[in-house]
Amino acid sequence: MKITMIGTGYVGLVTGACLAEVGNNVVGLDVDARKIAILQEGGVPIHEPGLPEMIARNVKAGRLRFTTDLDAAVAHGLLQFIAVGTPPDEDGSADMRHVLAAAQSIGERMNDYKVIVDKSTVPVGTADHVRETIAAALAQRDARVPFAVVSNPEFLKEGAAVDDFMKPDRVVIGADDERAIALLRAVYAPFQRNHQRLLVMDVRSAELTKYAANAMLATRISFMNEMANLADELGADVEHVRQGIGSDPRIGYQFLYPGAGYGGSCFPKDVKALQFTASRHGRPLQILAAVEAVNEAQKLRLVEKITARFGGSLKGAVFAVWGLAFKANTDDMREAPSQSIIGALIAEGATVVAYDPVAMTEARRVLGEQSALTYARSPMEAARGADALVVVTEWKEFRSPDFAELKRALRQPLIFDGRNLFDPAQVRGAGFEYFGIGRR
Ligand SMILES: NC(=O)c1ccc[n+]([C@@H]2O[C@H](COP(=O)([O-])OP(=O)(O)OC[C@H]3O[C@@H](n4cnc5c(N)ncnc54)[C@H](O)[C@@H]3O)[C@@H](O)[C@H]2O)c1
Repeated sequence: MKITMIGTGYVGLVTGACLAEVGNNVVGLDVDARKIAILQEGGVPIHEPGLPEMIARNVKAGRLRFTTDLDAAVAHGLLQFIAVGTPPDEDGSADMRHVLAAAQSIGERMNDYKVIVDKSTVPVGTADHVRETIAAALAQRDARVPFAVVSNPEFLKEGAAVDDFMKPDRVVIGADDERAIALLRAVYAPFQRNHQRLLVMDVRSAELTKYAANAMLATRISFMNEMANLADELGADVEHVRQGIGSDPRIGYQFLYPGAGYGGSCFPKDVKALQFTASRHGRPLQILAAVEAVNEAQKLRLVEKITARFGGSLKGAVFAVWGLAFKANTDDMREAPSQSIIGALIAEGATVVAYDPVAMTEARRVLGEQSALTYARSPMEAARGADALVVVTEWKEFRSPDFAELKRALRQPLIFDGRNLFDPAQVRGAGFEYFGIGRR
């Protein structure tokens, strides 16, 4: 099938590459000429495991190419996926400018039947706006071309995006047009040969499903962060509590890890956008208000522990920060807790030496060059001469460091573990003073 992917960010690139992988002919379009140039030269502008190989394979096979040429891109695909960003607007609502610009571009150019697929996370009712935008653009040039708009929210996780797309838990299709539904069934058939995972529903339910999913996951994280903070007060160990409740199949183990708060490009903005929609409809979501407030406070929980341990002042102290990305296996720095933590440490008069296996370039772009923040080439280099180690991202390579070497590198053997990566008994046995999140 001929497919156009509008937007070649985390979602568009992965979706485009995976659709090409199963034999479709995919054109990826972006307004960011720099990104397209990188892709055309064989590079990949983001870090996503397995993606460079998949892109290279499909480009070579002639099933995947990248362009900034709108005319060619719109002419190409029977299916036009919109996978552009929907960042938060100033009032917390989702900024639909890019989605509607993409719809406008399609409406101005399409000459035959197209299915427009909203892959971006968009507020309930957006498919109607997309439909209206395209209809208005067609009317403007007196064109009568049939089309359908479908909601197909994406559930992939950065860091495991290729796997998630190739083996989805479910594929949600929101549509009321039988021809469009049949086309999407065909597109997704190769990804569910084992058993049927396609859920077809009305458009609004599909749009809400995506927000409800992210809101539920964010809720689990904030819930566990509150339990961890309480465990700190009560002398309990949240790791035991996590296992104790996770073993209940009604609860399950996933997304029960307390830490430095959730970040990334999705949860913070989606929780805000859902709140905005709910309030506008007179149904503010009390649970989500708490989820957000708990998360904001949690980002600074580690800094509170550090400040208390340093007797109230961090002036002149040096901290090694391991991990900058908002989670492991990505270079995404959007809303990363590291930003809040490093900002607070520096505001308290400390200096920071940071290390991340893949997000250093992105961190430099986001955090900028500051005299109080330098970057190290390895975890141990960051630790050398620091007053304490602060673990912020759960990268695998941080999990089992040479504790003897770490102890020699640090000025004092002190660890603040914002992801509960280490076993407190083991670390204390190695001579460290250890602070986790809700750990005994
Ligand atoms: N990143 C994730 O893990 C994830 C997961 C599920 C859903 N989503 C949703 O998917 C959408 C995209 O997210 P992302 O992380 O891929 O964003 P991103 O910022 O990485 O990529 C968006 C891309 O769209 C391009 N773009 C913007 N306007 C355009 C236009 N008019 N024409 C062509 N290209 C245009 C941008 O230049 C950018 O390259 C968002 O709505 C997001 O909420 C993201």
